[in-house]
Amino acid sequence: MTYEAKSNLTRRQFGWSALGMGAAARLGLGAAALEGLFDARAKGQAAANASDVTGANSLEAHAAARGHLYGAAVVPELLDVEGIVAGHSSDGYTNLVTAQTGILVGENAMKWPALRPSADQFDFTGADRLMRFANLTGKRVRGHNLCWHEALPRWFQGTVTKDNARQILTDHIRVVAGHFRGQIQSWDVVNEAIEPKDGLANGLRKSPWLELIGPDYIELAFRTAAEADPHAKLTYNDYDIEQDSPRPAEKRAQVLALLRRFKSRGVPIHAVGVQSHLPADGDQPGAGLQSFIREAAKMGLEVYVTEMDVKFHGQNATQTEEDAAVAAVYRNYLNLVLAEPNVPNVLTWGITDAHTWLTHLNHEAPGTAPAIRQRPMPFDDDLNPTPAFFALRAALDGAHSIPAAKAG
Ligand code: XIL
Repeated sequence: MTYEAKSNLTRRQFGWSALGMGAAARLGLGAAALEGLFDARAKGQAAANASDVTGANSLEAHAAARGHLYGAAVVPELLDVEGIVAGHSSDGYTNLVTAQTGILVGENAMKWPALRPSADQFDFTGADRLMRFANLTGKRVRGHNLCWHEALPRWFQGTVTKDNARQILTDHIRVVAGHFRGQIQSWDVVNEAIEPKDGLANGLRKSPWLELIGPDYIELAFRTAAEADPHAKLTYNDYDIEQDSPRPAEKRAQVLALLRRFKSRGVPIHAVGVQSHLPADGDQPGAGLQSFIREAAKMGLEVYVTEMDVKFHGQNATQTEEDAAVAAVYRNYLNLVLAEPNVPNVLTWGITDAHTWLTHLNHEAPGTAPAIRQRPMPFDDDLNPTPAFFALRAALDGAHSIPAAKAG
């Protein structure tokens, strides 16, 4: 089958059929995002093949040379698993992910809406596809995530009550973490549980889980995950904890306090995820995050860069200026965090500009402003490396070297 034929088939399957649009909606992909990605796959194929950034020049190889893992969030439906099985894929996106990453995470594939079509059903189609691809290509996998206040399935409200919430949360964790037992490098067990703005004790976020179970839901999730998969590094993941300004500083302090409570109570936890969705302009991370990473190290915790991307807000800038601003943030930020010996993993939230949630963030609802194309990834729409790629790779070269036995 020619690439075009295959591409059209895939487009029909995932882009335009009712089933495909349903799947796309569950994945948080609008039609525009899908269209952009398919165009990029077609255009980028040749570019990716001709590039000199593969093999020893790839992000994976440069990370591995320092004992690190570089990886990305991916959409399993877009990975040409069948081609890989057959021994060759001509799909640009698939080949790029294969060439550049050492670790993958499902952008949406392991969230509740993807895994839980109903209260009594589990659907591992997308998540298993990701795991199959990872096994075939020798990639590690992060699990994201087991417990979050967002991305709850439609059936949640009305089904989950104070009487059954503990059971439903622990069943979910047992089944999902159990399904992938031994295959996950790290699980984001709880995502974004701290929000000091909500004004609650210990800076806890107003979350359905907090309302239904009470403040010990976080500990419950970690203890259940440890039983279900004793091999995965259990991670608490959050955002807005990067900069030095008062709001992130307060949030960071509450995250540290949570980690300290966990340590003193013997709750199993191994790592903190710093999402690292950063702005190209304005407030940048600094000494506050550095000392946070060091405090985590004192507790024996690793720190992962779990979802890095850089959003550009400037107007009337040239593409060169935009790319330079984005690359500068990659360089400065990763130089800061990779100097620390307990930061072994860097993942970007996506890998090509063709598919980045930032372009569509806040722009998909009817009546909102049109999408503003963003260029936050190490590869552009055509799958060519961007200045961010070179900044990221150089930062990996300068990373604190981690002994092989400890990495991952
Ligand atoms: C985002 C995905 O990228 C989108 O496709 C989806 O529509 C919404 O979620 N923090 C997280 C991620 O922990 O799960 C989010 O992913 C981005 C912010």
